[in-house]
Amino acid sequence: MDKLLIEGNGPLTGDVRISGAKNAVLPILTATLLGSTASRINNVPHLNDVTTTMSLLGRMGCQLTMGDNMQVEVDPSTINDYAAPYDLVRTMRASILVLGPLVARYGQAEVSLPGGCAIGARPVNLHIEGLRAMGADITIDGGYIRAKAGRLKGANIHLETVTVTGTENLLMAATLARGQTVIENAAREPEVVDLANYLTAMGAKIQGAGTSTLVIDGVDDLYGTDYTVVADRIETGTFLVGAAASRGKICVKDTVPSNMNSVLDKLTEAGADITIGDDWIELDMHGERPQAVNVTTAPYPDFPTDMQAQFCVLNAVASGTSKITETVFENRFMHINELQRMGADINIDGNSVTIKGVERLTAAPVMATDLRASASLILAALVADGETSVSRVYHIDRGYERIEEKFHQLGAEIRRASD
Ligand code: EPZ
Repeated sequence: MDKLLIEGNGPLTGDVRISGAKNAVLPILTATLLGSTASRINNVPHLNDVTTTMSLLGRMGCQLTMGDNMQVEVDPSTINDYAAPYDLVRTMRASILVLGPLVARYGQAEVSLPGGCAIGARPVNLHIEGLRAMGADITIDGGYIRAKAGRLKGANIHLETVTVTGTENLLMAATLARGQTVIENAAREPEVVDLANYLTAMGAKIQGAGTSTLVIDGVDDLYGTDYTVVADRIETGTFLVGAAASRGKICVKDTVPSNMNSVLDKLTEAGADITIGDDWIELDMHGERPQAVNVTTAPYPDFPTDMQAQFCVLNAVASGTSKITETVFENRFMHINELQRMGADINIDGNSVTIKGVERLTAAPVMATDLRASASLILAALVADGETSVSRVYHIDRGYERIEEKFHQLGAEIRRASD
C-alpha cells in the first residue's frame, strides 16, 4: 500500500485546476444505463471510484471507451447482466446507484447491500422504500437487494431524511416511470442538479432540480447525449482550506464559486480575503493566522459534511477556540485521533468537537480512515513541523485526482512512497 510523505514547509501559493466532481460523475455514469443509445461524458476525473464504476458497467455488458482527455463513452445497448456483485459494491458503496436505472429500464436488478463504512451505518432503506412505492417488487436476502418490476409507476414520495444518493436513485427511476413522481425533501446538492441536467439532456422531464421538491413526468425513452460533469466543490474547498491554514495565497480554477457559498462564508469569517470570478476563486491570507470558526454540517445549501474534517484542521491551527458539530453522519470524527497525535488540542463530545487552536502541529505517522479525513491529514501535515507520513492512501485516491501533483504545484513538499 502507498503512503504520502509531507514536509510542513510553509504557505501554499500558486494556481490549481479543479477536476470533475466525483459525486456527480458517479450517478451520471450509472444514469447512462437509462439511455437507448450511447452517451459521452466529459471532464471525468481519474479516480479509483470512477474506474470501479466503469468496471461495474463493463461487467454488465456495456461498452466503454476512454477518450484521451477525460472523456468516457458508455454504450448501454449491449447490457446483458443486471447485477452489482458484493466484491465490487464493498469497495464502493456508490455502486447502489445502478439500482434505480436497472429497475426503471430493465425491470430487474440484483445489487449487493452496500453495508456500512468508517463514517456510519449508511442504510439504503429510503432507496428501497421509494422504489417499492413506484411498484418495484424488492426482496432482500443473502445480503442482496433483488428487484423485479414491470414499468414503474409515478408516486408521491416523501423522504424522511435528506439523502443524496437516495434522491438520485429515485430521480433516475422516475424518469421512465408511467405518470408523474413527486419527491419531497429531496437533496439539493449541486451534484444532484448536475445529474438532473444530464437526464434532461437525455430527454427527461424534470422540474425543481436544486429545490427540495422534484417533479418528474415519466417518458417512454431516453437517448444518450454528450455531457460535461460539474467541477468538484469539495476538492475546491479542500485546497482553499489548505491555503487558509498555511497562511498562503492560491487561485483555484475551473470551479463553480456559486456552489461554495457556505464554505466561502466560513473561510471569510476565518479571515480569508476571497475574490471570485466566473470559474475561479482566489484566497489570500496576507500571511495572517486564521481565526477559529464554529461550524455545523447539514444538507446543502448548508455547510457540507464532506468539508468537516478539513475545517477541523483549519481550527486546529487557528487563533481561538471553536466548535464543530456533525449532524449528517454518526461517526465522522475518525480523523480527530490522528490530529490529536499531531498535537491538535481537540475534545470530542458526542457529535461535536471543541478545538483550541495551536500555532503549529507536529509531524507524526498517521493513518487515513475515510476519503475526506485522509485529505485533512495532508492539510494537517502542511502546517506541522517535520515530515508526516500518511498511510492507507488508497482512501485518498478514491476521491482526489493526482492529489500529490496538485499540492506540489502549490508549493507543498509531498511525495508518494510504498508503505
Ligand atoms: C452522499 O452519500 C455522498 N456520496 C457522500 O460523499 C456525502 O458525504 C453524503 O452524500 C452527504 O452529503 C456520494 O454522493 C457518492 P446520504 P450518501 O444518503 O448519499 C441517512 C464523499 O466523501 N440515510 O445523503 O450515501 C444516512 O444514514 C462521500 O464523497 C438513511 O437513513 O449519503 C445519513 O445519516 C462520503 N437512509 C444521511 O441519510 C437511506 O436510505 C445522509 O446520507 C439513505 C441515507
